[in-house]
Amino acid sequence: MAALRVVGIAGSFNRPSKTYVLVEDVADRAARRYGFERTVYDLSDVGPSLGSALWRKDLDDQAKGVIDAVVSADALIVGSPTYKGSYPGLFKHLIDLIDPGELRAKPIIITATGGGDRHALMVEHQLRPLFGFFMSHTLPTAVYGSDRDFENYKVSSEALSERIGEVVSELAAFFPAGDAILAAAE
Ligand SMILES: Cc1cc2nc3c(=O)[nH]c(=O)nc-3n(C[C@H](O)[C@H](O)[C@H](O)COP(=O)(O)O)c2cc1C
Repeated sequence: MAALRVVGIAGSFNRPSKTYVLVEDVADRAARRYGFERTVYDLSDVGPSLGSALWRKDLDDQAKGVIDAVVSADALIVGSPTYKGSYPGLFKHLIDLIDPGELRAKPIIITATGGGDRHALMVEHQLRPLFGFFMSHTLPTAVYGSDRDFENYKVSSEALSERIGEVVSELAAFFPAGDAILAAAE
């Protein structure tokens, strides 16, 4: 049987990127616990055709490949940097090219990063309603990290790490076999 796949998509084109490492950290921990294959993309992986595409058919094969991976994932981890209190326009443009039914009922972990704590609720006020539109299953715990939660582009704070652990545990509602993997490893 083919392995289940978790896909991360970070809405940043920066390299290195705090959002990318946050998504990657969640993906790694989910992959370990549930035996997922995991792939993480950022907006640079989507490539330059995103900015000029009015429709999905205008994207080049590279960008289409990323969208195909996102919509066919068994579980999705979405991460966005906070720009002006919300997600960046280019990230929203990527999401706008996904058809309404393509993320329906998909388990999605929502994460974001920002410079400080002022916009920490952007995960609840911006990202959660966006995936509510798609009728996705956003996991109850949303994860937000600010500059002080990272050191050398690695998750460094205990609080952020704990929150990642909580949301990864919540995936067990969708992938109960993951608990068997965990029990076997202990
Ligand atoms: C154009 C722009 C707008 C930003 N607006 C906010 C903001 O409103 N609130 C905030 O906390 N951080 C803001 N930031 C900081 C970024 O959200 C923060 O540095 C983020 O972690 C960058 O993610 P990355 O390293 O993945 O690119 C902004 C940064 C840029 C470039």
